[in-house]
Amino acid sequence: MSLFICPLCQSPLQPAADTWRCDGSLHPKQTAHPFDVARQGYVNLLPVQQKKSKAPGDSQQSIEARKRFLQAGHYQPLNDLICQKMTMLLTAKKAKLNQKDQSINWLDIGCGEGYYTQAMAQTGMDTLIAADISKPAVVELAKSSKALGRLWYQQYKDSATKATTIYPLVTSAANLPLRAHSMTGISSIFSPILPEAFNAVLGDEGYLLIAKPDRRHLATMREALFDSVREHDSDKFLDELAPYFQLLETHYVSTHLSLSAEELADLMTMTPYAYRARSDKRQALLAEVAIKPFETEANFVIYILQKTAAQ
Ligand SMILES: C[S@@+](CC[C@H](N)C(=O)[O-])C[C@H]1O[C@@H](n2cnc3c(N)ncnc32)[C@H](O)[C@@H]1O
Repeated sequence: MSLFICPLCQSPLQPAADTWRCDGSLHPKQTAHPFDVARQGYVNLLPVQQKKSKAPGDSQQSIEARKRFLQAGHYQPLNDLICQKMTMLLTAKKAKLNQKDQSINWLDIGCGEGYYTQAMAQTGMDTLIAADISKPAVVELAKSSKALGRLWYQQYKDSATKATTIYPLVTSAANLPLRAHSMTGISSIFSPILPEAFNAVLGDEGYLLIAKPDRRHLATMREALFDSVREHDSDKFLDELAPYFQLLETHYVSTHLSLSAEELADLMTMTPYAYRARSDKRQALLAEVAIKPFETEANFVIYILQKTAAQ
C-alpha cells in the first residue's frame, strides 16, 4: 500500500522515477493527478491553493547561511544526541515489528536543507520522508540525497545492503500528503508542530521527537541585538500536544560557540528573530566581532513523545 496520498483529492498516490500519479479513486470524477519528479530528485506536492505566499518557508539566502553554519559543525552535539535517541527508539521498535514484517517510516517535517535529516538517515529506518514548505530547501536536500544515492528511485530491491530511502517533498505540515497511521515517527527540528496533523499520520504508539531552543539560547547574541530580550518559552507547546501525546523523555544539550564575523553573520541570517534586529545593532555587533571572536552558548532541548493509546 502506498504511503502517499494525493494533495488534491486524497486518493492513493503512487511514487515512480519520473511522475507520481494518484489513482483518482476518491475524486468525484475519478480524475487522476500527475506530479512530476524534478531533475534534482524532489516532488512538489504543495498545490498552489495551499500556498499562503508566493515563496513560502525559508528563503534561499537563509538556507545557504544555515548550510554553511551547520556544515562547520557548530551544532554537532545536538545532531549527535538526536541520532543517538532516534537509534534507541528505532531499535526498540524494530524488535517489536520483527514478527509483523512492517517497515519503519519516518517523517522529518520542516527538514530545511537536511543537515539533521541526512544524519537521521543512518539511524535505521526504511523510509525517510524529508518534507518542507520551502522549495529551495528541498532542492538542496534532494541534491545531497541524490549525490549519496539515497533517493527512492536510486534504490534497488535486490541490493544486498538495504539502505534508507529518502523522499524529498515540498509540502505543508498542515496538509501532509501521507496515508493515515503510516508513520512510525516524526521529527520536528526547530520546525512547526501541528498536533492534529501529526496524530493523523502517526501509527499506534508513534514517536514524536522535537528539538527547540532552550532558555538562554544564544543569549549574548540576543542581548547585543535587542533592547529587551524575551526568553524562549521552551515547553508551552506541550499543552497543545497533551490530548494526543505523552511526554517520555526530555534531554538538554549545550555547546559553547566562538564565532568569526562570517559565522556570526550566517547565524544571524539563519535565525529568524536575529534577522529581524535593527540594522544598526547588527552592524555594531559585526564590527565588534571583526576584532575578536564572538562568544556565546547554544542551548537546546529535545522532547521525545509517544502517541497515546486512546488515539
Ligand atoms: C528553523 S528551520 C529548521 C530547518 C531544519 N529542521 C534545521 O533545523 O536545520 C524551519 C523550517 O521549517 C520550514 N517550514 C515553515 N513552515 C512550514 C510548514 N507549514 N510546513 C512545512 N515546513 C515549514 C521552513 O521552510 C524551514 O525550512
